[in-house]
Amino acid sequence: MSEKKVALVTGALGGIGSEICRQLVAAGYKIIATVVPREENREKQWLINEGFNESDVRFILTDLTKHEEATVAINEAIEAEGRVDVLVNNAGITRDATFKKMTFEQWTQVIDTNLKTLFTVTQPVFLKMLEQKNGRIVNISSVNGLKGQFGQANYSATKAGIIGFSKALAQEGARSNICVNVVAPGYTATPMVTAMREEVVKSIEDQIPLQRLARPEEIAAAVLYLVSDNGAYITGETLSVNGGLYMQ
Ligand code: CAA
Repeated sequence: MSEKKVALVTGALGGIGSEICRQLVAAGYKIIATVVPREENREKQWLINEGFNESDVRFILTDLTKHEEATVAINEAIEAEGRVDVLVNNAGITRDATFKKMTFEQWTQVIDTNLKTLFTVTQPVFLKMLEQKNGRIVNISSVNGLKGQFGQANYSATKAGIIGFSKALAQEGARSNICVNVVAPGYTATPMVTAMREEVVKSIEDQIPLQRLARPEEIAAAVLYLVSDNGAYITGETLSVNGGLYMQ
């Protein structure tokens, strides 16, 4: 069994995912990182860029939307480490379009990646946490799941769904000392946001009371707080990190 605490992070190679891994490794965790198999050796390059040792990270190269093969891969990784202390469901995509122009494919791609995979990833981890009688789950939602966003009917639906899922699971996990929470980032300086047209990014920045995008470190710090000892009495909660863009 791993001597270090183990954290499974989905979408580990992304803008926010990488920073979450960085902070977890600095806090002494071993990472199980899920990566969609695409360009060859993308994950090896990531290890080098992040300055991680091979022993810091175990990769699961699988498409999480494929339920059966992903479940097998996740179970193998958990078994190999012998424990799983933290799960961060971070994987997510956008396919923005106004609803009148949105294709069914844009709808289903976002539902499948952002919501359907929650089942596949969380169930095997949750079962292990029940056995351990201990665990922390943090699901990454979005300010746009809370307030809705023009051009994101698909994405907003999934990010709101993540919050309902987390509140339900928080109730089921509580008796086994499993806390389930949500971090809802605002617009963060990552490729997902900078891929938008420049004038759209500018108009969003103008609406943010703190007048800037979030830094990935600021989102990861909220995740680390929720999984730390200081977060032990927080469950079913949504922590917004959005520069004041939406105040609940
Ligand atoms: N509210 C009301 N009307 C709006 C609007 C808004 N927020 N944004 C655009 N419109 C209007 C435009 O003024 C335009 O009106 P006219 O036709 O009268 O000129 C009309 O809607 C069409 O707008 P676009 O020209 O932008 O339409 P498009 O088809 O070229 O692009 C879009 C549509 C791709 C959705 C584009 O508007 C867009 O990128 N919007 C931003 C979506 C967004 O915020 N995505 C977040 C991505 S990052 C992320 O999701 C991370 C996270 O969690 C925060």
